[in-house]
Amino acid sequence: MNLLIMGLPGSGKGTQSELIVDKYHVKHLSTGNLFRQEMKSDSALGHELASYINKGELVPDQLTIRLLEQELKKPLYQNGFLLDGYPRTLNQAQVLDEMLTSINEQIDAVIYLDLDQDVIIKRLSGRLFCPKCQKTYHQTLNPPQMKNVCDDDQETLMQREDDKPEKVANRLQVSLREMDDLINFYQQQGKLKNIKILETDSIDQVFEKIEHALND
Ligand code: AP5
Ligand code: MG
Repeated sequence: MNLLIMGLPGSGKGTQSELIVDKYHVKHLSTGNLFRQEMKSDSALGHELASYINKGELVPDQLTIRLLEQELKKPLYQNGFLLDGYPRTLNQAQVLDEMLTSINEQIDAVIYLDLDQDVIIKRLSGRLFCPKCQKTYHQTLNPPQMKNVCDDDQETLMQREDDKPEKVANRLQVSLREMDDLINFYQQQGKLKNIKILETDSIDQVFEKIEHALND
């Protein structure tokens, strides 16, 4: 099974991806994680990616598509994948379809996490992440067992550069510009699963909604 998870920045894509991959035995591919990994390596490519990401801008399509294609070709994705954060433009979606058609594959379902922007802003402002394994936490809504320390590998947690309040507003604008086209694209293909999320929905409750939608 090949899945996509879409939603505005901070909508919970990474958090839900962890649960989805466990249950559906698919491999997680987050372009954001892929790019941050490269940024950590201090390469020229990493610096180029940081010049967009740290401002809250999209990485240009040509570069994103090249890196995605290179990654998705790896054998570990052959038994099914969950794409998180890709596609982000209509062009990326069309290229992905062509890429998959050429190897007799397709996207089976698209999970869209639908929640209000004011909730999103609260979530991003308290988010922490592990620079080693990229696991995501929230200072109050989803805290680690020990303050500021990753549950899985004991690394010190950090705030993402693009979660600083002045960058969040730009990220939301950039995503909102592209989102309607993407939603329409997958709705027309009959693949879109709209998951309406309330502020009070726990991580497990959101996951139950996703399971329900995927079983439909
Ligand atoms: P990316 O890393 O994909 O960032 P994003 O889309 O902005 O999404 P986030 O990772 O910020 O949020 P999320 O939806 O994963 O939410 P999370 O689960 O962490 O991309 C980063 C950048 O890379 C982009 O801005 C762009 O520059 C570039 N890029 C990436 N892909 C690209 C592409 N295809 N094309 C071009 N450029 C690209 O949850 C958020 C917080 O909420 C956490 O603190 C979490 O603990 C908490 N939380 C989650 N669920 C709940 C809940 N139910 N209750 C309470 N708290 C919750
Ligand atoms: Mg994420």
